[in-house]
Amino acid sequence: MDRSIPTRIEWALDLLSGKRPELLLEIGSGPGLACRRFLRQHGRANYIGLDRSAVSRDKFRNLNADMIEAGRASFVHDDFLDQTKSSGADVGLAINVNAFWTNPVKSFAAAKRLLMQPAFLLLIYEAPGPEKAKEICRLVDEFGRADFKPGPAIQNLDAWTLARWFRLVA
Ligand SMILES: C[S@@+](CC[C@H](N)C(=O)[O-])C[C@H]1O[C@@H](n2cnc3c(N)ncnc32)[C@H](O)[C@@H]1O
Repeated sequence: MDRSIPTRIEWALDLLSGKRPELLLEIGSGPGLACRRFLRQHGRANYIGLDRSAVSRDKFRNLNADMIEAGRASFVHDDFLDQTKSSGADVGLAINVNAFWTNPVKSFAAAKRLLMQPAFLLLIYEAPGPEKAKEICRLVDEFGRADFKPGPAIQNLDAWTLARWFRLVA
């Protein structure tokens, strides 16, 4: 059964569809609300969720049991900052994972290790207001470019929700 998913995740899935990922790594996936919808939209793709929370792990396994069974979805229960090996993903996604602006140097370096080269990374962040949105934009722009080539910020005008693509080049 597909559960209704929040607008930010719908938006992320729309933005992702243009890149046609083969293997999507969702950093800070939570319970993996995007997983089934993504796999349905991309019939040949696979999905990895990565989250350090045991609650997320258990919910992910319940919610996406059929996709795990089918071999199309998997879950890594760990801190993404500690990852040393590539997941092999060609596209990374992180929605509301605040490490990217509270600890940007380590977060972008970890994302670089986790993704194959070349790859794309899509960050989505719901800020509580315009000032915070600007600050987050500045931080990810400044620190992301050490490892990635940032694209323009895409603003969803209904809320202070922003998206930004980063390209990782070999
Ligand atoms: C605000 S929730 C967002 C969950 C999901 N992306 C969404 O939009 O519904 C942030 C998630 O990131 C995970 N997270 C935060 N920092 C993490 C880290 N360093 N390593 C792994 N997971 C992390 C949390 O456990 C949590 O599930």
